[in-house]
Amino acid sequence: MRTQVGIIGGGPAGLLLSRLLALQGVDSVVLENRSREYVEGRIRAGILEQHSVDTLVAAGVGDRLRREGLEHSGIHLQWPGTRATLDFPALCGRTVWVYGQTEVVKDLVAAQLAGGPPLLFGVSDVVPEDVDTDSPRIRFTDADGAPQVLGCDVVAGTDGFHGVSRGLVAGGGGQQVFERTYPYAWLGILADAAPSTDELIYAWHPDGFALYSMRSPTVSRLYVQVDPAERIEDWSDERIWDALDTRLALEGWSVNRGPVLEKSILPMRSFVSTPMRRGRLFLAGDAAHIVPPTGAKGLNLAIADVTRLATALVRLLQDKQTDLADAYSDAALARVWRCTHFSWWMTSMLHRSGDEFDARLQLAQLERVCSSEPAARELAENYTGLPVEA
Ligand code: FAD
Ligand code: DHB
Repeated sequence: MRTQVGIIGGGPAGLLLSRLLALQGVDSVVLENRSREYVEGRIRAGILEQHSVDTLVAAGVGDRLRREGLEHSGIHLQWPGTRATLDFPALCGRTVWVYGQTEVVKDLVAAQLAGGPPLLFGVSDVVPEDVDTDSPRIRFTDADGAPQVLGCDVVAGTDGFHGVSRGLVAGGGGQQVFERTYPYAWLGILADAAPSTDELIYAWHPDGFALYSMRSPTVSRLYVQVDPAERIEDWSDERIWDALDTRLALEGWSVNRGPVLEKSILPMRSFVSTPMRRGRLFLAGDAAHIVPPTGAKGLNLAIADVTRLATALVRLLQDKQTDLADAYSDAALARVWRCTHFSWWMTSMLHRSGDEFDARLQLAQLERVCSSEPAARELAENYTGLPVEA
């Protein structure tokens, strides 16, 4: 087997990269170690920045997003007794869209299987080789158990946080890892309940942070801050709804309850591995960096990485120019650090540490964001997504 770009990982980053390359006439093969059902069912992010929406629409996978996605023009920030609203178009001229990562992935898989580049599910033992040469290879075992070798010009490591690619980049020397583990986790539920809010609510509360989000006019997605040591078995649906009622409480308003479709606990960390390239192996998305979910940045950052990488690879493989490929890691990392800072800042402002001094600082910061236009604009610009060139 031979292709121009061998893509390891069929998450949003790998699938979108393959699509963007195909639109520019560059061949690729996507190798995914899980099944289609698993990849399409994995519940994760829910908010798309303006540039992510623009990229998906331009890539021809935005029809359902435009039909079924919910355009949101702001968020509510809350603390006991107060619910303030930030108006994004007024503050920065942009909006965001509620459209689940599951739906983004389904749209990308459907486009790929309808005449797009090969997408192989259920592969195993994926090993990139010779990435320091101009003709790297990927060894793997296909879904039928047969050993295969995929020869390529470039390997893209879009295999997420637990993939094989980052370790190989580290083996090239000069790797640096920057990491912060937070003493918080999110317990998230997906519920068959119409959201009782127009915009998402990010709530500070003495008991801990809560977030009211949604997936559609009939499905809510809600989160509460818990200790990372908590076990999901100890959180009955009733206990979760009660915690949400307490933390999101506002006079004359209530959370709509309904059957809980899914619940899980996710840890929170910041992680950046540099550089994002070794020879002909390029990293993008969670393979290179993780942010805590509070700023809704993880999926958007993966989309920004591959948008930049696709342009660089087209230039490398079609025009034989190395400038954009050489600039890729530093340019991508500039955005990664901006988003890492924003996600850390949102996380720090909204989660209870148990310390009363911290609490007063957080409330002072929230008051400032909701009363000062420049402070609100700073949040709005970051939340809705800075331009990809940034
Ligand atoms: P992934 O989506 O992880 O895709 C990587 C793919 O590579 C996977 O399909 C994996 O199966 C495959 N793979 C791994 N190893 C191999 C291998 N060796 N060979 C072949 N294939 C391999 N972000 C937000 O903005 N908001 C949220 O609410 C949010 N919630 C999240 C909840 C959870 C539980 C997690 C884990 C992440 C969440 N994120 C959230 C982050 C967001 O989902 C990720 O940033 C996004 O999925 C990154 O896309 P990706 O394609 O880089 O990586
Ligand atoms: C969702 C997740 C986030 O991390 C966030 O900041 C907003 C929304 C969500 O899953 O809907």
